[in-house]
Amino acid sequence: MIYDKNVMELKIAKTKQEVAMQFSKYLAELTAGKEEFHMALSGGSTPKIVFDVLATEFLDEIDWSNVHLYWGDERCVAPDDEQSNYKMTLDHLISKIAIPKENIHRIKGENDPEYEAKRYASLLDKQLPKLKGIAQFDLVILGMGDDGHTASIFPHEIALWHSKKYCEVAEHPESGQQRVSLTGEIINNAQVVSFLVTGAGKAEKFLRIKNRESSYKDYPASLVQPISGKLLWFLDEAAVGII
Ligand code: 6PG
Repeated sequence: MIYDKNVMELKIAKTKQEVAMQFSKYLAELTAGKEEFHMALSGGSTPKIVFDVLATEFLDEIDWSNVHLYWGDERCVAPDDEQSNYKMTLDHLISKIAIPKENIHRIKGENDPEYEAKRYASLLDKQLPKLKGIAQFDLVILGMGDDGHTASIFPHEIALWHSKKYCEVAEHPESGQQRVSLTGEIINNAQVVSFLVTGAGKAEKFLRIKNRESSYKDYPASLVQPISGKLLWFLDEAAVGII
């Protein structure tokens, strides 16, 4: 279902670096004055640049002691594995900012995936405030893969998006790697959802989703429709097809 009030707010910058600057500024404004701010992070190449910018140019702009970090998805690997989204965030952000240990709520990729999906769902249920009985993030950051996947909900498993559970076990279509991913149930309940998408490889799917054309509904990213109506896409020009 497409919520009528749902509008994709586009923030287009020239380069990846400028996307990172624009998003960091937005995050600093959004977190300002909040006593508690619950934010789900994404893996991928664009967040990596954003984390670098947050840890340097915006180091003094955000009070991290009020921010709680979660993840939208995690690869089922150890936390020190190069593929771990937690490790990427640790290296590029967490190790460089003043954030209390107890504010970091990682998905434990080293656990049995089914067990971890349940454990993380119940952690979210305890940690987050609720809207109409469903846990609510202040902000969910998402990426979009070239195939239109988001978090770790891939086109071949798009049904997982509609799960009533907050977390599901997903599988990467090529490598078969297992992932623990948030579902639409909790992502679409967030106050704000923000995509970070860069690179020419994203343009085809992005334009189909934006224009709602030719099988766009087959892409999990098209199902991101927060009930709050606050959906932002931070993109570089390449991702919107400007070469
Ligand atoms: C992951 C993700 C995934 C990612 C997209 C985009 O852990 O792989 O969270 O959804 O955000 O694949 O990744 P890029 O920014 O690298 O294109």
